[in-house]
Amino acid sequence: MKFFVDTADLDEIKELQQTGLIDGVTTNPSLVAQSGRNFIELIGEICEIIDGPVSAEVAATDYETMLKEGRKLAAIAKNIAVKVPLTPDGLRVCKALSDDGIMVNVTLCFSAAQALLAAKAGATFISPFVGRLDDLSQDGLALIEDIVEIYENYPNITTEVLVASIRSPNHIIESAKMGAHVATIPPKVIRQLYRHPLTDKGLADFVADWQKTGQSILDAA
Ligand code: E4P
Repeated sequence: MKFFVDTADLDEIKELQQTGLIDGVTTNPSLVAQSGRNFIELIGEICEIIDGPVSAEVAATDYETMLKEGRKLAAIAKNIAVKVPLTPDGLRVCKALSDDGIMVNVTLCFSAAQALLAAKAGATFISPFVGRLDDLSQDGLALIEDIVEIYENYPNITTEVLVASIRSPNHIIESAKMGAHVATIPPKVIRQLYRHPLTDKGLADFVADWQKTGQSILDAA
């Protein structure tokens, strides 16, 4: 499973890139607003740090303007994935950009029917939002299961399932069990993935016991 980091915070991206575990970045207008940064400059800087896909979302909602914005964003760097909303105009833009060889991430997906449409429009990624469905007492992970199952029925579908709106490590583990291709994960949840109390206790015990030996690996002959 590929891990994208779901943030527009450049410091977080720089720090997490050092783990060697980050395959891409997703941003959205809300995250860009939180960053307080100039959008075009910010996306350019992220693309210099991250080799994999960097999602940059259009701001308009009509076909003509979204298409122009998408082409402008795609010109920033080769690894831009233009993010478009799952609307009729958004999917028209998806088809046009995909036909030109530009990566497209179709966002705000909340149903299997929408995911099927995005695949037919040539999306590189479909972004179903699990957390926002859970927030409404609906089953976000069941949507991932449905989309993975449907896509697997059609070998000509190349669209990758990008699990979005992730709130916890459980969303990632369950999506990985279902075979979702990508998880886009907030920095806080990436850090949670490392943690287990038995790891902390076990390491503390090993460090204490090693000190009893009085040895040093680096000083040993
Ligand atoms: C990513 O592409 C989405 O925009 C993001 O995961 C949405 O997450 P949220 O529901 O926590 O805002």
